[in-house]
Amino acid sequence: MGDSSLQNPNSGLIWRTTNAPEGLFICLDGPDGAGKSTQAACLTQTLRDQGLEVVAVRDPGGTALGDRLRSLLLDRDSVESCPRAEMLMFMASRAQLLAEQVMPALEAGKCVVTDRFLLSTVVYQGLAGGIDPAEIWRVGHATTSGLMPNLTLLLDVSREAAESRMERTRDRIESRPESYQEAVRQGFRSAMSDFPGPISRINADLDPDTVFANILSEVLHALAEHSRA
Ligand code: TMP
Repeated sequence: MGDSSLQNPNSGLIWRTTNAPEGLFICLDGPDGAGKSTQAACLTQTLRDQGLEVVAVRDPGGTALGDRLRSLLLDRDSVESCPRAEMLMFMASRAQLLAEQVMPALEAGKCVVTDRFLLSTVVYQGLAGGIDPAEIWRVGHATTSGLMPNLTLLLDVSREAAESRMERTRDRIESRPESYQEAVRQGFRSAMSDFPGPISRINADLDPDTVFANILSEVLHALAEHSRA
């Protein structure tokens, strides 16, 4: 891995991002209903059309273990878990995703586009869920060996726009009360200020084509910087 290192002002942890010839690691994150998954699919296709090798993953999931953990975490008829167990299951899925998919792809110089990453745990289980975010950063650091995406795109969305886009059948976390969803939206905004890696806010209330154009512009900039580094 490259030697780009970043300091988390909250915890003093040292994080790192990849440098070329390793691949670029991009994360789309944000509240439910922001249109992240659609945008991640468009981004993946556009980068592939430009001749890049892209591995697209989602967190939680993306591996046999991760898919089972995803069901345990999100199925509405799943078993109960206490907040810490929930947080650790998200981390376990992430560790497996890194080992099986993300690290091999980055080491082979491929670009990785992930639908969510550690910031989601900091917000959903931490800022909205009640676990001390500093604790989540520490566990997250151990889970990822300090790897941060080269670019995190935070799709910021209003309650109105999110509700109009959300599926009628909601998973276990999407079914939590509106006060929790509002804490998630606010949590993403406040987490931006001391996020220990490159992060850009994207206004996801705009029409999807404009949102995509804004995402692509940020990603092309990150790609150019990455190959120069
Ligand atoms: P998805 O619908 O974007 O695939 O995300 C699954 C749900 O899991 C979504 O409601 C957000 C939630 N989640 C957490 O609560 N913590 C996490 O660490 C991650 C990655 C997702």
